[in-house]
Amino acid sequence: MVDRVCVVAQLSRSIRSRPTPYHRRVIRSRTEDDIEPLVRALALVAEADGYPTRWPADPAGWIRSRDVIGAWVVDEGGDPLGHVNLRWPRDHVPVRMWRARGGPGECAVVSRLFVVPAARRRGLGLALLDAACARAAELDRRPVLDVVDDNRAAIALYRRLGWTDLGTYEDRFHDDGPIERLHCFAAPDR
Ligand SMILES: CC(C)(COP(=O)(O)OP(=O)(O)OC[C@H]1O[C@@H](n2cnc3c(N)ncnc32)[C@H](O)[C@@H]1OP(=O)(O)O)[C@@H](O)C(=O)NCCC(=O)NCCS
Repeated sequence: MVDRVCVVAQLSRSIRSRPTPYHRRVIRSRTEDDIEPLVRALALVAEADGYPTRWPADPAGWIRSRDVIGAWVVDEGGDPLGHVNLRWPRDHVPVRMWRARGGPGECAVVSRLFVVPAARRRGLGLALLDAACARAAELDRRPVLDVVDDNRAAIALYRRLGWTDLGTYEDRFHDDGPIERLHCFAAPDR
């Protein structure tokens, strides 16, 4: 009987210590090997959400972006499930809005945030955003971004995290495209 109790206790310990899918999740820096699977992931996002609004001529270059401080992916052991990057501020509208408000301090731009449709609502978007915001905090910079009005899930995510509305603007990004409305946000102080 005592032996049986011991075996059950050992079994239960080993079941408890077995890694769950959550524990296998890693947010890590993007590598060049991630780019090809990320283009495939982006195609799924584009089909489901219309993000990006127009499929880029060079999707790999679009993901790589310019002026990048850091880029992260969600890795659960297969192809990356999501991506985000953090960029040095250039002539982005949310950067201008942040500066027009007097900061405080400098900012960095969060962009190219996406999670494949099959892995949504498991906290991956939140975890990616947290990685980008942690890096911005190390640089003493406030994360800012803009988001198209149609990307309701992303807007809900930023609002849930207490990001501040900096304002909205409208632009026609493509000569033959519609006028789009975008919301600019700044992250709360960490
Ligand atoms: C925005 C996006 C990255 C969110 O990814 P995700 O992994 O599903 O997000 P999370 O699971 O971390 O969500 C965290 C919280 O955000 C909010 N949220 C996320 N998606 C939502 C949705 N569809 N509707 C309402 N709230 C939502 C919720 O508060 C959620 O918490 P909950 O699930 O406990 O309610 C994903 O929907 C996406 O890739 N969208 C298309 C691309 C895009 O619009 N990118 C933004 C560019 S600026």
